[in-house]
Amino acid sequence: KRPAGAPDPAIARPVTKIGIIGAGLMASQFALLFLRRMQVPVVITDLDQQRVDQAVERIKGELAELREKGKINPDELNRLEALITGTVNKADFADCDWVIEAVFEELEVKQAVFEQVEPFLSPEAVLATNTSSLSVEQIGTKLKHPERLVGFHFFNPVAVMPLIEVVKTPQTDDAVLATAMAAAKSLKKTAVITADTPGFVVNRLLAKLLGEAMHAVDTGTPFETVDEAVAPFGLPMTAFELLELVGLKVGAHVLDTHHAAFPDRFYESENLHRLAEHGRIFERDSKGRIKGIDKAARKIVSG
Ligand code: 3HC
Repeated sequence: KRPAGAPDPAIARPVTKIGIIGAGLMASQFALLFLRRMQVPVVITDLDQQRVDQAVERIKGELAELREKGKINPDELNRLEALITGTVNKADFADCDWVIEAVFEELEVKQAVFEQVEPFLSPEAVLATNTSSLSVEQIGTKLKHPERLVGFHFFNPVAVMPLIEVVKTPQTDDAVLATAMAAAKSLKKTAVITADTPGFVVNRLLAKLLGEAMHAVDTGTPFETVDEAVAPFGLPMTAFELLELVGLKVGAHVLDTHHAAFPDRFYESENLHRLAEHGRIFERDSKGRIKGIDKAARKIVSG
């Protein structure tokens, strides 16, 4: 069954080479997923060669781990390793027909990376942004062809979470939307088409949950109490574990964006920014298992 609002899949464009802008952890997760599921060349770029080289090494390391776990065979490992390359030269994106960014969640940064790469692309190439709460339409305002831009919002952990929000702006071309839906299908993800509104659908709901959890802590309830209270609702992880998984900086940014858009409906938390600077809420053992609340984090919220 065709998802609500999806155009005819027959108008989707072929995706034969993928460009990824940004060489951080999220970008590496995208590269791994595109490589495994689409089996087409993937080129990754960033500002400096060292970051690019590190990302390629990280992706190859992840592929080797998949081989060790028996999830891919030796032939597939060799084939996929040969498909990943890194570059600092945007001209190497010339034959990419799908380019996705995973750079810092700031409007000007996202606008700039697309603006820089667009002159090298064919007129048919699709640009996809993984923004979690910026306006996709605004990201496209510096483009010559804003109709080629679509939101393609993944969830953490990218390899596991089954959903992608495909975000349509008033300009997004139907063929571009169909290509995004087809790409999500190739990645074996469920795609929903959302309007270009703050937080789309998922982060709008998440910002409520995490914002209220943070508000409870800011007004004197301990972290553990909130997490215990939320547990019976059957979430796969507690509110503050989820906040750490999302990333405290990203979480704070998501809350700020929602508060700016709907000041009466969403809470923003200065403590969350302080926690983001500190870097953690939980103390963990060497294997990443939670031991308890980090002492400094508790001090930050108790003032
Ligand atoms: N990377 C890759 N694979 C991972 C992983 C990771 N970080 N974490 C877990 N996995 C894999 C495991 O390897 C395992 O795979 P297998 O079955 O093939 O061995 C599978 O996932 C299940 O893992 P576990 O049994 O260790 O753990 P759980 O059953 O507890 O599941 C979880 C872990 C999937 C992370 C689950 O706790 C969960 O769904 N949590 C909620 C996550 C969520 O809500 N994410 C959305 C955040 S919002 C967001 O990202 C949007 C952004 O814009 C803010």
